[in-house]
Amino acid sequence: MDVLLEVRHFKKKFGTKQVHRDISFQLQKGECLGLIGGSGSGKSVLLRSLIGLEKPDEGELFFQGQNISNFNEEAFIPVRKKIAYVFQGGALFDSMSVFENLAYPLRNHTQLTEPEIEKKILDLLQEFGLAGNEALLPSSLSGGMQKRVGLARSIILGPEVILYDEPTAGLDPFNTRKIEDMIQGLKKKGTTSVLVTHDMPVAFQVCDRIAFLKEGYIAEVIDKKDLRQEKGLLHQFSQGEIP
Ligand SMILES: Nc1ncnc2c1ncn2[C@@H]1O[C@H](COP(=O)(O)OP(=O)(O)O)[C@@H](O)[C@H]1O
Ligand SMILES: [Mg+2]
Repeated sequence: MDVLLEVRHFKKKFGTKQVHRDISFQLQKGECLGLIGGSGSGKSVLLRSLIGLEKPDEGELFFQGQNISNFNEEAFIPVRKKIAYVFQGGALFDSMSVFENLAYPLRNHTQLTEPEIEKKILDLLQEFGLAGNEALLPSSLSGGMQKRVGLARSIILGPEVILYDEPTAGLDPFNTRKIEDMIQGLKKKGTTSVLVTHDMPVAFQVCDRIAFLKEGYIAEVIDKKDLRQEKGLLHQFSQGEIP
């Protein structure tokens, strides 16, 4: 098995609050790992640590076999090109059109020519059902469309791994479905991902395995093929009964 990301004995506290007590898991190439846990259980901090925005107190993080735990800002630059963090909101530049928002990372991080950039953007918008919106400003899009454009921008450089931080939070069923389709599409192309979500149906739909974060530990990891036998637990979590 090809392990792309690995977390070993991750521990992190803020003040006196021990958020992560001992977190270990591996992310295999090509899989989607769901990460479910109550609000404040440390899901975002864990994802942010993987791209160097937080430092573990103890434990190690490996990306493609390399220990990145003690990387400095500069060393994290190439890592962040390969690991995309898609956060809540996805913050687009308000004063730039959809096209300019998408062109920004391409102009700054690739050698592509303007015609190549244009083709890439139009193809991506087409693929994600966003064609025809390129000239619009984010403010003239619905919240759901903004999130979809934000997701498109996060992945436009073709990352190896995508960390989705509650990508469907606050979305209506239509846009939730669209985001789910985007995630599925990227997965089919071979992208590896971690999906943090409160939305059990989305996790169930998209993920190969689901890890449950509880009281600073990974309480349980369920394989998709076993999910159907875990109806009780799924029901409990889907009802928001996450301790
Ligand atoms: N920079 C910070 N300073 C202090 N406490 C923080 C900081 N970041 C996160 N926390 C705390 O760590 C806990 C986990 O946060 P987070 O990872 O954002 O949770 P969630 O699972 O909801 O994403 C929360 O109790 C939060 O208040
Ligand atoms: Mg969070």
